Amino acid sequence: MSINKINVDLAERQYDIFVGGGVLSSAAEKILPLLKRKRIAIIADENAYKFHGDSLISSLESHGVETKIIITKSGEATKSFSSFEHVVEVLLEFGIERSDIIIAFGGGVVGDLTGFVAGVINRGVDFVQIPTTLLSQVDSSVGGKTAINARAGKNLVGIFWQPKLVLADTNVLDTLDKRDIMAGFAEIFKIGLILYPQFFDYVEENAIKILGENGPERQYAIEKSIAAKAKVVAEDEREAGVRALLNLGHTFGHAIEAAVEYDETIWRHGEAVACGIAMAARYSKRIGALAPEKCDRIEKFIRDCGYQYKLSPRTGCGDYADEMPQPVRHDTAGISIFNPQAMLKVMSHDKKNSGGKINLVLLKDIGNAYIHKNADVADLLEFLKEECS
Ligand SMILES: NC(=O)c1ccc[n+]([C@@H]2O[C@H](COP(=O)([O-])OP(=O)(O)OC[C@H]3O[C@@H](n4cnc5c(N)ncnc54)[C@H](O)[C@@H]3O)[C@@H](O)[C@H]2O)c1
Ligand SMILES: [Zn+2]
Repeated sequence: MSINKINVDLAERQYDIFVGGGVLSSAAEKILPLLKRKRIAIIADENAYKFHGDSLISSLESHGVETKIIITKSGEATKSFSSFEHVVEVLLEFGIERSDIIIAFGGGVVGDLTGFVAGVINRGVDFVQIPTTLLSQVDSSVGGKTAINARAGKNLVGIFWQPKLVLADTNVLDTLDKRDIMAGFAEIFKIGLILYPQFFDYVEENAIKILGENGPERQYAIEKSIAAKAKVVAEDEREAGVRALLNLGHTFGHAIEAAVEYDETIWRHGEAVACGIAMAARYSKRIGALAPEKCDRIEKFIRDCGYQYKLSPRTGCGDYADEMPQPVRHDTAGISIFNPQAMLKVMSHDKKNSGGKINLVLLKDIGNAYIHKNADVADLLEFLKEECS
């Protein structure tokens, strides 16, 4: 499959994203021009490294680049103060200098941690994102948001720090768990719902192929999502306006994730976002912003893909098509793990809010999202009670 280049147009901080099958084997050619000396540190997710590390390392070493590899454990716990400290100390011992480059090799966890480390070590060194999950290719590796988690919540400690280059090799997705494909797909169809109705039509029509195989449909969906995010980021790097729309489904989604203490074995971020988008559609319908038939279409799509689209333990996943991947069920013996008051509390702490008011990204139509400021808290609580019952 072809390799395409997408630019993130941020003036002096602009960078290219190379996307396609086989990008990794030519990583060195793309990275070499950024190096002042032939030494590079790689922060690598253990699974990404196990399956695809050889390809990256041999590409670099065949060009005489000395590599220092720091392997991190799979999972959200890696976005912690303690792994931040560990990585920083190892890099300093390695003798990292301001003009060196750090590579993030893995999913969103490694990308977020590495970006943050790169942004603050020696007051900032350049870094390259090599995203190896669907979610990180279409979303987290683009746009420069970096963070680690604090006790009070996820992603609360971080900076905006743009990479110098992103290499998204779609072949590495072959080794990814089905649930991680599903999780990434949520951020793909989200883009269609926010801004591009025709793209939503496309993913709706081609969902089975995009989810099921590394073919041209998946490649197109990835490229389109990256290009859309790149455009939004170029317009609004610091999320003062349009970039906030990318949080569709995330305020509800974070409340879901918080309910299971961000345990990604129970709810992956993307699975929570998919359910959060269904909730945002239902809430948009409730307040009269979205036509009922549009809401039904979104809900049906999310259900048919095999996501849990409602919180109620009795609904679970719907009648998905036979060809779709098996649904991920989160119902625990019919007992709801969700508490409306607790969810509302999480939602009121969202980073998008200001002055204690809850702001939500809602839908007017498929392909037309908007910020609903200062939501009616009593009505939202009523809605959450209905959703949880
Ligand atoms: N910075 C942003 O803009 C942004 C946006 C969205 C999400 N995020 C963050 O991204 C994180 C989630 O990212 P994620 O979904 O990529 O999760 P992840 O990094 O935890 O990766 C998911 C799983 O896939 C494994 N893995 C990675 N590459 C693999 C490969 N090629 N083959 C097989 N297994 C592989 C990992 O070991 C892990 O078990 C969250 O922390 C979230 O907050 C950040
Ligand atoms: Zn997300």
